Amino acid sequence: MADYILEMENITKDFSGVKALNNVNLKVKRGEIHALCGENGAGKSTLMKVLSGVYPNGNYSGRILFNGEECHFKDIKDSEAKGIVIIHQELALIPYLSIAENIFLGNEISKYGVVDFDMTMKKAQGLMEVVGLNENPATMIMDIGVGKQQLVEIAKAISKEVKILILDEPTAALNEDDSENLLELLLEFKRQGMTCIIISHKLNEIMKVADQITILRDGKTINTLDKEADKVTENGIIKGMVGRDLDNRYPDYTPDIKEKYFEVSNWNVYHPEDPDRKVINNANFYIRKGEIVGIAGLMGAGRTELAMSIFGKSYGNKISGSVKKDGKEIKINNVSQAIESGLAYVTEDRKGNGLVLIQDINQNISMASLDRISKSTIIDENKEIENSEYYKKKMRIKSNSIFQTVGSLSGGNQQKVVLAKWMLSQPDVLFLDEPTRGIDVGAKYEIYAIIQEMAKAGKAICIISSELPEILGMCDRIYTMNEGSITSEMLKQDATQEKLMEHMTSKVGA
Ligand SMILES: Nc1ncnc2c1ncn2[C@@H]1O[C@H](COP(=O)(O)OP(=O)(O)OP(=O)(O)O)[C@@H](O)[C@H]1O
Ligand SMILES: [Mg+2]
Repeated sequence: MADYILEMENITKDFSGVKALNNVNLKVKRGEIHALCGENGAGKSTLMKVLSGVYPNGNYSGRILFNGEECHFKDIKDSEAKGIVIIHQELALIPYLSIAENIFLGNEISKYGVVDFDMTMKKAQGLMEVVGLNENPATMIMDIGVGKQQLVEIAKAISKEVKILILDEPTAALNEDDSENLLELLLEFKRQGMTCIIISHKLNEIMKVADQITILRDGKTINTLDKEADKVTENGIIKGMVGRDLDNRYPDYTPDIKEKYFEVSNWNVYHPEDPDRKVINNANFYIRKGEIVGIAGLMGAGRTELAMSIFGKSYGNKISGSVKKDGKEIKINNVSQAIESGLAYVTEDRKGNGLVLIQDINQNISMASLDRISKSTIIDENKEIENSEYYKKKMRIKSNSIFQTVGSLSGGNQQKVVLAKWMLSQPDVLFLDEPTRGIDVGAKYEIYAIIQEMAKAGKAICIISSELPEILGMCDRIYTMNEGSITSEMLKQDATQEKLMEHMTSKVGA
């Protein structure tokens, strides 16, 4: 049998004349974990869509060899029949169906022509044990968090006969513990002989699990590195990705912090469906002008719920407490009032809340600032375009033009549009919820610089992030949360990963 389970040769794929892939080569050895790295828009997801038949044969040029044999996949089913299974960047589960139903969606287990419900539950349970998902298989997808949803995707994948498992940014939405578990699972699959291709912007994870690393830049293969033989380092990968050294991950910055500006006191929030369950428990925090404050916590700690309940009560029930801005109490009962009060909240769920996918970059960026770029309700189109061009350049949004629809951008570039939209609206108080999820290291640096610029301009900024290095690198002061309560507050100079972790798992008052 050939050494290589997979060879992709001279793959070229264009979208209306624009080359997303230009003669790309990828060779994957049997039984290895092969990582694909590259900046946002480099072509990673597109290459994997070519491999899995999302873009069928004839839609691209080049050859795909599986076990030395040329393949012409017509669709996903066709590649799955060979054992090539992909888990996409954007999860594709059905929220109103159970875990078990989702696992077997499209491959229903039936007896005498009807779905065998008992067997579905039983088999689902078995697969859930393999991936370490501790839930009732009858639980609906919408009732479990993204970390667990990712495990459902993996359970679904391994319910098929997998030879090559492709994971497109599987840990982007996961916290450190869940990511760690998932990577361990991949290493276990490897021990059992499975081949994996993983795409990730988290280079520490690549260093942990990958045997070989292929780097793409602007739709071209830069090189393939063997982690051991080539003594690969994170900086080495970054250099290949961005084409230059990146000495610092965070821009040099001296904060200019002024008076207390935004303050939330005695904030309590109950669960929207379960009126007795308290989700936020007497939270108190403040942000000064020019300050970047961080909120660190594990998944489920209540960080997003805290921010959303403040941002126009867009989450929760029986909300009580007070919000003060510039010394005055403000009432914010809905999202428009929040925006009018100078607040902005950049969501972690870009597809759900952040963007209109069928509209273009230009329309999406100006969406939250229409009053500022209009004269007596008529939009000043030149101004609108000028702004969008500015952010496209500044954040290095990769697209043909600002008139490309947002739905056709790569995942990381969509996230940049969400950020640009809220930055343009020039809020006084800006909440950023997982702002750099899925963003490549080079672009992260640019985004950090923009956040710092906004702080310098006197804005009050709050970053919610699961990446502790990001919190430690960016925030002047940090709050930790656990089980709906704020458990500690510390200054940047006093904070370490260990201290944060300790308070992210401690009880209030402990
Ligand atoms: N359906 C489409 N129509 C037009 N252009 C597209 C389409 N899908 C992808 N592209 C373009 O192809 C390029 C590569 O996109 P791709 O999604 O493969 O990037 P990526 O490397 O996965 O990036 P990310 O890290 O942000 O996920 C991008 O410039 C993107 O805008
Ligand atoms: Mg992608």
